[in-house]
Amino acid sequence: MSPPGPVLRVQGLAKRFGQTGVFEGVDLELPRGRFIALLGESGVGKSTLLNCLAGLDEPTAGRVELLGQDLAGLDEAARARLRRAHLGFVFQAFHVLPHLSVADNVALPLLLLGRDDPARVQEVLAEVGLLAVAQRLPEQLSGGQLQRVAIARALVHRPALLLADEPSGNLDPDTAERVLQALAAQVRRHGAACVMVTHSQAAAAHADAVYQLTPQGLRSVR
Ligand SMILES: Nc1ncnc2c1ncn2[C@@H]1O[C@H](COP(=O)(O)OP(=O)(O)OP(=O)(O)O)[C@@H](O)[C@H]1O
Ligand SMILES: [Mg+2]
Repeated sequence: MSPPGPVLRVQGLAKRFGQTGVFEGVDLELPRGRFIALLGESGVGKSTLLNCLAGLDEPTAGRVELLGQDLAGLDEAARARLRRAHLGFVFQAFHVLPHLSVADNVALPLLLLGRDDPARVQEVLAEVGLLAVAQRLPEQLSGGQLQRVAIARALVHRPALLLADEPSGNLDPDTAERVLQALAAQVRRHGAACVMVTHSQAAAAHADAVYQLTPQGLRSVR
């Protein structure tokens, strides 16, 4: 399936928007089965960093390798293929497709890989507690339900790398715990690597290590 070696390797990553520096000196290596939490104050660049890790934004300097492939060495189509096969991204703003039902939103990553697996879609919907609303449209959901659609969609194809931007930010403690366990299961049982942005101590407790993003790079917190 995927090659040996780390899932993600980041070296000397820096990002500026025009004259404004966001971060520099970000180094990180994640083997399979590694779950890290990323803290940092609002505006420090956590979402920007995740976008760079996903090849959705271009870093100003440094290097990102996903499964041994240097993202900068791939064209946009090849980057998109790599993301489709190996990445699950829970966006801070969800990015759920408004005209598709919950089940169809969650099935989309499988569809794009040419896999039709309704049983897997049901399984992951059950994991995040959305079976009862599977046929609804996103506009008929609460914020926390939408967030869980985004999480189910990131998990459904069992990606090697999970990037989750405050995945439990809109959830009550019990529901948060449930989705964090679903993320952690993909790491612990299926060997994914996960970077989770969070402000929640309870969420960070699921991670093996906690880092804080600063303008000068990642600082180890625990
Ligand atoms: N496209 C852009 N052009 C210019 N500046 C941007 C752009 N996107 C983000 N920024 C700036 O980069 C900085 C980092 O933004 P980012 O969204 O990554 O922060 P964050 O750490 O995720 O914050 P939050 O915790 O509020 O989600 C902010 O100062 C933001 O204003
Ligand atoms: Mg953010």
